[in-house]
Amino acid sequence: MDQSQAPILRALSRYQSDGQLSYTPPGHKQARGADPRVRAVLGDAAFAADVLAIGGLDDHQESRQVLVQAEELMAEAVHARLTFFSTCGSSLSVKAAMLSVAGPQEKLLIGRDAHKSVVAGLILSGVSPVWVEPQWDAERRLAHPPSQRAFEAAFAAHPEARGALVTSPTPYGACADLAGIAEVCHRRGRPLIVDEAWGAHLPFHPDLPTWAMDAGADVCVTSIHKMGSGLEQGSVFHLGGDLIDPAVLASRADLLGTTSPSVLIYTGLDG
Ligand SMILES: Cc1ncc(COP(=O)(O)O)c(C=O)c1O
Repeated sequence: MDQSQAPILRALSRYQSDGQLSYTPPGHKQARGADPRVRAVLGDAAFAADVLAIGGLDDHQESRQVLVQAEELMAEAVHARLTFFSTCGSSLSVKAAMLSVAGPQEKLLIGRDAHKSVVAGLILSGVSPVWVEPQWDAERRLAHPPSQRAFEAAFAAHPEARGALVTSPTPYGACADLAGIAEVCHRRGRPLIVDEAWGAHLPFHPDLPTWAMDAGADVCVTSIHKMGSGLEQGSVFHLGGDLIDPAVLASRADLLGTTSPSVLIYTGLDG
């Protein structure tokens, strides 16, 4: 694919130069309906760029495939099988990933250094956590992600666990042995979820630690607004392998409130 393409920017630019206005939200109608004081601070460009993906950049059938093309470009750039975007932060994405692996009362192995959005996901879903202890670094006085051995032991004690979730990098910047943990999961036919909220930069430089997709993880969520340059709440799901059905992940994401029509259409075409 031609990685210099930017389908969303192109569609947005066309939308603006055609002088289009939709009958859908947002109600500010490209700044016209916004308070002048807000326009003075934010600038009209913020409103001009605030356009729905469907009924705006594209039609309701997504016949121009604007989002799909952008997601395919990103998937290729970072070696994922499938990528789709969310505007609800990794706080939502990680919950959708958890729900696509385990249901109420089912067990999920989770590194104890998980973000509070993971804990919220447990409370909302009723998924039962099996906590896996991080590694204490006494010299630096901080915790590193749990080891491969710790996940192996947790699976041995809870073989019915539906999969595992690890946070990598941690907010301190340390990365897990993702390939090792993925191998532990896959030996049992179970998926590995990686909360890679802080790892948007990892796929883009060879000297950085291996990131989730290259290490064989099944799904990872990445905050583009953290170590990437995206706007606030920009988050991405990446899928690898075939242990997680993209349609199931998309439906869980939809259920939680991030719309993902493109991936539903995409997987529909895929059969
Ligand atoms: C490890 C980890 N996971 C998930 C999140 C949630 O990410 P977001 O801010 O994109 O909702 C955070 C946020 O700081 C985080 O540190």
